[in-house]
Amino acid sequence: MRILGIESSCDETAAAVVEIDDKLECALLSNVVASSMDLHMQYGGVVPEIAARSHIESITPVIDQAVRDATLQKRGDPWSEIDGIAVTYGAGLGGSLLIGVLAARTLAITNNKPLYAINHVEGHVYANFITSVNPSLQDSVLQKYTVPKSQPEFPMLALIVSGGHSQLALFRDHFDYTLLGQTQDDAIGEAFDKVAKLLGLPYPGGPSIGQKAKQGDPEKYPLPKAKMPGKYDFSFSGPKTAVLRLAQQICGKSYDFPSSRLSGLLKESQKADIAASFQRIAIETVVDKTLRAYEEFRPDSVVIAGGVAASPELRRQLSEKIPLPIEYPDIKLCTDNGAMIATLGCYKAKLKQPLSDPYRLGIVPNLSM
Ligand code: KG4
Ligand code: ZN
Repeated sequence: MRILGIESSCDETAAAVVEIDDKLECALLSNVVASSMDLHMQYGGVVPEIAARSHIESITPVIDQAVRDATLQKRGDPWSEIDGIAVTYGAGLGGSLLIGVLAARTLAITNNKPLYAINHVEGHVYANFITSVNPSLQDSVLQKYTVPKSQPEFPMLALIVSGGHSQLALFRDHFDYTLLGQTQDDAIGEAFDKVAKLLGLPYPGGPSIGQKAKQGDPEKYPLPKAKMPGKYDFSFSGPKTAVLRLAQQICGKSYDFPSSRLSGLLKESQKADIAASFQRIAIETVVDKTLRAYEEFRPDSVVIAGGVAASPELRRQLSEKIPLPIEYPDIKLCTDNGAMIATLGCYKAKLKQPLSDPYRLGIVPNLSM
């Protein structure tokens, strides 16, 4: 069974085809991502109107290419080899989500395919279930993928860390999970992006802070970690403000000094030390809660998902502290992509989950887990 996944919740227009077999093993057949990130870089974050307009331009060519790349039978109607369509309907930016959902609804109607509505955050977790890749994707140097050798076992503890989400969830099985905790304010990726902006580093902030941190001392500035009433809840707003206060103090400025002028006053070595110190406590926060949940629930596997799961520092700290071998999805499958949406769609189709009405499916920008 082959499912086309469509993702457009933020600044990536993405489509992919994933195949699921009778043993529920998933293979990536195609994966196409067009990002409008370059257009947002000059603003230091995603501009919703620009993202929506870029989706309109890219959605049709991206889907066409994903379907063409995946179809083995090169002649005839490529849609005859696609068994269903999965699409992100939330959470995300309203204007962005609409483009993907309308495209998916239209294609489901015109090609007479079942439609599956996917929660973006749940989708991220399913990047961990792809265990093989179409050889023709592997042949291209640019597209080389490293995927886990085997699928994660249930019960599975999932740490979801992205630009919009920070969540810890315990999955007992497919479609049976408990949300253990989540951020009460900013997501971890959002905090990385804001701290990067303050330091004058390019968007997206996670990788640029990671790069800058390599030249810095992670112990230089003891930034505070938020203490939360919920055992597995996070907060990144406090540490982010602590960085602002620290930068103002280093520059000898008062609390009302504008953050946008600080990066011009900080030395490169100070920026590197702030980046390293912030990265250490932000990553430690999520790793410590994951370890705590691991000790309480003793899951058979631990997975990470979301854009921040691409962080080498997160992977290093987790592998060091969690006494289980952790397999990480390819970095290209951690940031937003259609493959994770297609994979969750495969399970929905195979395990007979409810279908969505292609004439009615709406978007839910603030959809929760
Ligand atoms: O999952 P994603 O692509 O989009 C959302 O659903 O939010 O995540 C984007 C976030 C951004 O905040 C970005 O700074 C962060 O993921 N990110 C990283 C890395 N690559 C992307 N953070 C740390 N290290 C990375 N290598
Ligand atoms: Zn995402």
